[in-house]
Amino acid sequence: MTTKDVVRTFVEYFEDRGHRRVTGSTLLPPPGDPVLFTSSGMHPLTPHLEGQPHPLGRRLVNVQRCLRTTDLEEDGDPTHLTVFEMLGTWSLGDYEGQQSLDWGYDLLTEGFGIDPRMLHATVFGGDGQVGPDTASLESWQERGVPVEFTVEDNWWSNGSTGPCGPDSEIFLWTGDTPPESTPTGDDRWVEVWNHVMMRHRRLDDGSLVPLPQRNIDTGLGLERLAALLQGQKSVYGCDLFEPWRRLVPGLWQVDEPSLRLVSDHLRSAVVVIGDGVRPSNTDRGYVLRRLVRRVLTVLWRDAPSRQLVDLPGELVQHTLDHFRQDVDPQDVRRVLLDEERRFRGLLERGRQVLARPRFHGPLDEEDFHYLHDTHGLPRDLVVALRQG
Ligand code: ALA
Repeated sequence: MTTKDVVRTFVEYFEDRGHRRVTGSTLLPPPGDPVLFTSSGMHPLTPHLEGQPHPLGRRLVNVQRCLRTTDLEEDGDPTHLTVFEMLGTWSLGDYEGQQSLDWGYDLLTEGFGIDPRMLHATVFGGDGQVGPDTASLESWQERGVPVEFTVEDNWWSNGSTGPCGPDSEIFLWTGDTPPESTPTGDDRWVEVWNHVMMRHRRLDDGSLVPLPQRNIDTGLGLERLAALLQGQKSVYGCDLFEPWRRLVPGLWQVDEPSLRLVSDHLRSAVVVIGDGVRPSNTDRGYVLRRLVRRVLTVLWRDAPSRQLVDLPGELVQHTLDHFRQDVDPQDVRRVLLDEERRFRGLLERGRQVLARPRFHGPLDEEDFHYLHDTHGLPRDLVVALRQG
């Protein structure tokens, strides 16, 4: 099943059950939203989760691109992408959580053909403010799906304040041996689908008040599910990364974690540029700048002569096409090449600064701060320059 098949199966399944597809999926959140980038499918729907009627009704389905920066400083790990797509469904004060979990189970097992014995669920166990989610527990028990209770891991919120609620997550077993243990006890259980019973709003003082309506907000990581359905443990093994795995190694010979990082960050940079962001020292532009510079730092560690001008146009076009971005690939390349030029200049300066006697011995925190704040030299770059 290709990624496209997964999207089609998902959307049609929910359309058949009265959901209307929301269009538009830019990474830039609507004005007034405090986040830099859309990081979950619910972002564009916040006012509607808060009670404002949605023009398409009370049952929605969407494919939303999301960007999460939590892993930006990590070496490309096998289950996280910086930019990924989330398949989402919403009940805006319509059906309840049990219905959502029923459909979730049905779609995974019958629509996607997943063996029910490979599933595990987690459910909110209750805390001082909200009781345990017994309705979800009963849903899973009726289906014979094992359940683990947790507290923090089964509470979803978009930030410290705003819409939130208990959630129930569905995990898939990825081990080569029969399933064992639980999601918190064994990381071969991989989370694929989160169903949030979004019916609370957290206020500034930490207290909870009921939202005007009882919503459901679900999110399923597209690339993760597609990879698992394709028998791949790593998201980088799914069909979307085929052109990257085919073309990048011939161009730049790097180890597997670096190949993942370079593919993830360059692909993410293309999408971010495609959504209209340009490199800068603040906010969204800074995230883009860090993505590109991190790629270059990794590439230049082994061979400073590597350059982005060699990046095959096919990879830029493939990414823009996949994310349905109607943007001239040459414009994207120009932004990448400008940023590369700028970064080379910075490195030149960096080498000169680091040649000063003050920086010959071991560096302390104050040195790192000074080099960053005064000369714009990030820590990993300083470390790499000193090693080189
Ligand atoms: N909003 C929920 C999430 O992002 C579905 O996991």
